[in-house]
Amino acid sequence: MSEARSAKPLIVRKLIVDERNELFDARAMRSLEFVSDFSRIREYAAVILEPCPDAFKEGSLLEQQLSEIIKNGIKHGNRCDPSKRLRVWFDFRKRVRFIVEDEGEGFAGLDDWNDFYRRRQEALHNQDLDAFLALASYRGPRSDDSDGGNSLIAALEYWNGGMIYNEARNKVGVVRWYTGGSAHGAERSTTR
Ligand SMILES: Nc1ncnc2c1ncn2[C@@H]1O[C@H](COP(=O)(O)OP(=O)(O)O)[C@@H](O)[C@H]1O
Ligand SMILES: [Mg+2]
Repeated sequence: MSEARSAKPLIVRKLIVDERNELFDARAMRSLEFVSDFSRIREYAAVILEPCPDAFKEGSLLEQQLSEIIKNGIKHGNRCDPSKRLRVWFDFRKRVRFIVEDEGEGFAGLDDWNDFYRRRQEALHNQDLDAFLALASYRGPRSDDSDGGNSLIAALEYWNGGMIYNEARNKVGVVRWYTGGSAHGAERSTTR
């Protein structure tokens, strides 16, 4: 077993903070603003995706992934405060790109989350099932019972062109690239 472990080096992706990243260049992007109404998240995602080509939607996968980022901004960022807005920039030319900005205090636990994810991937790599199960979901200081605690795990895989936070950690830029109608490095089994 130790031979199998050493044969494959473990590469762990992580959430990156990079204020000047090109993913925050919104110049050629359209944008919409939404009130922080948790019950309307799927509706917001549907409105944003109206001009998106079907080939990029992969069934409902894109809508699900966009909804998770919107949900994080409205719930964790804006804490569902109706006086706070969520702004979403979008661009569907050649690939799918979003920037989602909330008016909250930012994702203070980002480094903690990266640490959680690294330990989780190491447990998986080492086939340490007990450790892996103990790291099934991320619990932040404010997580409640309705928080699944794993959307960012899926997001890191899904956004194959990057997932970048600004310095204040209240704005995230994401990209998904496609080739010939299917995504690079994507888990096709999760597209239904
Ligand atoms: N926009 C944001 N503002 C503040 N915290 C955030 C934001 N996005 C994510 N987080 C933090 O990241 C954690 C993990 O997010 P996620 O994987 O979507 O799980 P969940 O939303 O179910 O808790 C959240 O519990 C929260 O602490
Ligand atoms: Mg979430």
